Amino acid sequence: MTINILTLFPHYFDSVLNESIVKRALQNNLVKVNIIDIRQYAQDKHKTTDDRPFGGGPGMVMKVEPIFLALESLGLKKGQEDRQIILTSAKGQSFDQSWAKKLVKLESVTIICGHYEGVDERVAENLVDAEMRIGDYVLSGGEPAANVILDTIIRLIPGALGNEDSNKNESHDQAGDLAYPQYTRPESFNNWPVPDVLLSGDHTKIANWRDQQRKK
Ligand SMILES: C[S@@+](CC[C@H](N)C(=O)[O-])C[C@H]1O[C@@H](n2cnc3c(N)ncnc32)[C@H](O)[C@@H]1O
Repeated sequence: MTINILTLFPHYFDSVLNESIVKRALQNNLVKVNIIDIRQYAQDKHKTTDDRPFGGGPGMVMKVEPIFLALESLGLKKGQEDRQIILTSAKGQSFDQSWAKKLVKLESVTIICGHYEGVDERVAENLVDAEMRIGDYVLSGGEPAANVILDTIIRLIPGALGNEDSNKNESHDQAGDLAYPQYTRPESFNNWPVPDVLLSGDHTKIANWRDQQRKK
């Protein structure tokens, strides 16, 4: 699959793409990530990508034309079932694990990062399939949100995790389920012991205990 990210701050993603599971998935060609600088698609000689809001008010608003042209250059338009376009937005619908599971099946996911006071509403009205928020708070830009969406999708791509079982029994895998607690050596630290059942070697008991913990 391909993940396109449209941003005014392409260098934000330098470290994001060069660490851990995301880096390995890219190296193993499990996913292609294109970071697209929206400014390249600005039409005037000053490469303007934002302007003052009609009606007045503080701050600047990202312009519609550069985003339109960036999507056009990728051959993308709203309504292509297999190639979804998402606008990051504090007023969007809530991004969650079930969204990630749907998105990972697609040919491409394109994420638009807003900035400043936001994005000309005509982008949401005409150019994207969904507006998504990653939580009930306001970020300075869509870049951290795009990173969250990208990371959540990539770890669901078969082969992206070192061990294929790592995706099983994770928090939010089924609605309402959370991960069971994990412990590693030493068996006791600072008088904080590991639960006896995990040291018992009894796999049925361990499985039952983990099951109970997941539903707490
Ligand atoms: C400073 S915010 C704009 C907030 C906007 N004025 C509002 O009140 O909804 C700039 C950009 O950050 C991104 N953003 C902010 N909060 C977000 C969130 N919770 N989830 C996803 N994106 C967010 C969006 O792309 C937004 O256009």
